[in-house]
Amino acid sequence: MPHVLIVDADAQSSGALRTLLADESCTCAVVATLRQAATQLALQQPDWILAAHDLPDGSGLDLLEAVDGDEAPALALMADRPTAEQAIDAFRRGALDYLIRPIDARRLRQLLASRKPRSRSDAPRSAAAPQLLGASPVMQTLRDHIDRVAPTEASVLLLGESGTGKELVAQNIHARSPRHRQPFLPVNCGAISPQLIESEIFGHERGSFTGADRQHKGYFERASGGTLFLDEVIEMPIELQVKLLRVLETGAFMRIGSNQELGTDVRIIAATNRDPEAAIAEGRLRLDLYHRLNVFPLRIPALRERGHDIDILARHFLDEFNAAHGTAKQIPPSALVALCNYHWPGNVRELRNFMQRAYILSDQVLDTPTLEAGPARCSAMALTLAIPVGTSLADVDRKLIFATLELCGGVKKRAADLLGISLKTLYNRLEEYGNDDRAAAIAARHQGVPASIVVPGYESGLLN
Ligand SMILES: Nc1ncnc2c1ncn2[C@@H]1O[C@H](COP(=O)(O)OP(=O)(O)OP(=O)(O)O)[C@@H](O)[C@H]1O
Ligand SMILES: [Mg+2]
Repeated sequence: MPHVLIVDADAQSSGALRTLLADESCTCAVVATLRQAATQLALQQPDWILAAHDLPDGSGLDLLEAVDGDEAPALALMADRPTAEQAIDAFRRGALDYLIRPIDARRLRQLLASRKPRSRSDAPRSAAAPQLLGASPVMQTLRDHIDRVAPTEASVLLLGESGTGKELVAQNIHARSPRHRQPFLPVNCGAISPQLIESEIFGHERGSFTGADRQHKGYFERASGGTLFLDEVIEMPIELQVKLLRVLETGAFMRIGSNQELGTDVRIIAATNRDPEAAIAEGRLRLDLYHRLNVFPLRIPALRERGHDIDILARHFLDEFNAAHGTAKQIPPSALVALCNYHWPGNVRELRNFMQRAYILSDQVLDTPTLEAGPARCSAMALTLAIPVGTSLADVDRKLIFATLELCGGVKKRAADLLGISLKTLYNRLEEYGNDDRAAAIAARHQGVPASIVVPGYESGLLN
């Protein structure tokens, strides 16, 4: 039976919480201050601490220091209206969740179900996976779902626009799963050449084709015991989808050039930024594979649906840049408002790249005009592609591709990301249009932007 320590000076709130916990068959102790909490912790180690952010003698967050160590309980904070700063600080310091008072019984049940009582030493989340930041309700729900599905063996299909954090979610699922000590292997199905993809996935024997001068272990073998992350799964050639399905169903595969069946022990997480049902209708995704992968679909919300998370993430990225370069640049509140009003078609990746650019271009305080002008300009361009009814689909495709290239300053990789297609597909389309000159002209027009500023240690998005 889980034991919960409630630390809250508001007697009404802690009373209500105690009743909810009793309904969930938890035992609990209730105290009102940090000092009393310290005494209680010495008497009985709880599985959970639910602490108010504001306490008469400090913050519930301070308990994280008091309970550090291998056997530490999980801590969730509670507040009536947590500010963005409080939420960032809490997650960064290691709180597992943020509950908004009055606490909803369903939310509490999900939280308790997300972690069985156990010591922190065997908690898979301690395996390093970058933190999935965000305090918005959609992100809280996403974290709940991750916590629920992670310990299972279910295949997960991650759906979401480009840059929403699908790979990060996959890493978090792996890190919280019993497989967390085994490999997490990402495979970008859109980036491997169709000639090599089969051998990359299943491996090959020496001499099985020209150039196969030694045995090669494929992803299934290398990920054994762990998780295989099939990114951009819809880009996988259709013949290979048949083979993948067979492996997933039989749990066995053969290296190319071998008759010997090898057993698989991998968990599959797949991702796509396209609509799988449209891909099925277009004949690009096999329905049977879709059903096999879609055991537990998880939709990653677009950044524009996450409200103040934009604020949290912008500050987080700025903190990262400051820490990496030993600076203390700041962002003015007016700039944060501008960021929150932009619709971020490239989602978190675009925000990170944007902050990096603003960081580089600013001195002590991030330049408000740069921040305000940047997203606003992009937004106007992104939203004004007018297509008259009666335009053929092929023409719509072409117009959209060139408009997106324009929006991305001619950077094809970024345009492909926004369009949700692989870079190779974009090149193929441009070639089909016989119009690569136009793409080159777009790139040339945008050449005023410094093309090769690279901040050591960071991928440079808008700038490269
Ligand atoms: N909630 C988040 N908290 C912190 N960082 C995030 C979050 N979501 C995304 N990021 C960061 O944004 C960037 C893009 O994330 P990621 O690569 O996981 O997106 P994606 O959905 O896989 O994109 P694509 O569809 O283009 O492959 C990464 O640098 C990632 O660490
Ligand atoms: Mg990705």
